[in-house]
Order: sequence, then structure tokens, then C-alpha cells
Amino acid sequence: MRRAVCPGSFDPVTNGHVDVIQRAAGLYDELVVAVLVNPGKAGLFPVAERMELLSEAMADLPNVTVDSFEGLLVDYCRTHTIPVIVKGLRAISDFEYELQMAQMNRELAGVETLFVPTAPQVGHLSSSLVKQIARFGGDVSRLVPAAVNDRLLEHGRRNA
Ligand code: PNS
Repeated sequence: MRRAVCPGSFDPVTNGHVDVIQRAAGLYDELVVAVLVNPGKAGLFPVAERMELLSEAMADLPNVTVDSFEGLLVDYCRTHTIPVIVKGLRAISDFEYELQMAQMNRELAGVETLFVPTAPQVGHLSSSLVKQIARFGGDVSRLVPAAVNDRLLEHGRRNA
């Protein structure tokens, strides 16, 4: 059984994440999308809501499950017997830090990292930009799954 984990903050999931997860799901028997619980950083959406939005976006991918983790990613990999981390790469600027983390995760626990280059149509997406655009009333409907767009609009209405 080939298993991999796709970790991230996913605050919130964007169409860029969906692209990487869909393609990684085609390469492994089981893919776990793992949301980082970061007690030092609240984020816009609580972790439970991020997971719910991810599950909804991945509903048509039967080999994808959604989970959360706190602490080191390699400890999560060890506990769940997952030998591979999958990460999306948008640009060279992503690569420098991602390479460092990949080398560190391999040194810490022998966990390999597979980089998936994002599709060019979504290479400019990031959760932070999406949140910024939505906060100022911009249209992000083409950048995120429909349910995420709805939640961002709700947030906007609540804070108006
Ligand atoms: O979506 P993000 O915020 O770019 O995801 C970053 C994430 C969660 C993959 C990274 O911060 C991570 O792996 N955090 C867990 C802590 C950890 O293992 N740190 C050591 C990395 S070498």
C-alpha cells in the first residue's frame, strides 16, 4: 500500500491545493491531507472548519482522507507509517524553503518528499492572497472551491 501525506495550513484550501491533492491522489493508494494545528497562530478559519472545507472539496476522491496534526510532521508520519510527504511547488521562491524542509525531514526520520509543480493556471494562488482579496470585497470565486467562497462571503458580511 503506497501512502503519502500532503500537509499544510489550508487556511483556507484554494484551487491550487486542490490541483496538487488531486494529482497526488492519482499517484498513491492513500493520501492523507493533514492540517497543521498551530497553537501560536489562530488563522481565519478554525482547524475543524478547514478540515470540513477540505473534506467537501475532496469528496469525489475516495482515497483521500483529511486529518490534523500538531508538532513535527515527521512524528505524524512515523505514527501513521507514512513514508512520503507531497508538497506543491509554485515557483523558485517556494523551492528554497521547501528543499530545506525536505532535507531536514529526511535527516530526522528518513521521510522522502515528492514535489508536484502546480498547474500554471493556479501557480499564483495562495491562501493569504485569497484572504486579503476577500477581506476587501474582491471576487475570489474562481480561486477557491465554492464552499470556501461562501464562507469567505459570510465572514465579510459578519465583519461589515
Ligand atoms: O501551508 P503551509 O503553512 O506552507 O504548511 C507548512 C507545513 C505545515 C507543511 C510546515 O510548517 C510543517 O511541516 N510544520 C510542522 C512542524 C515541522 O515539522 N517542522 C519542521 C519542518 S523541517
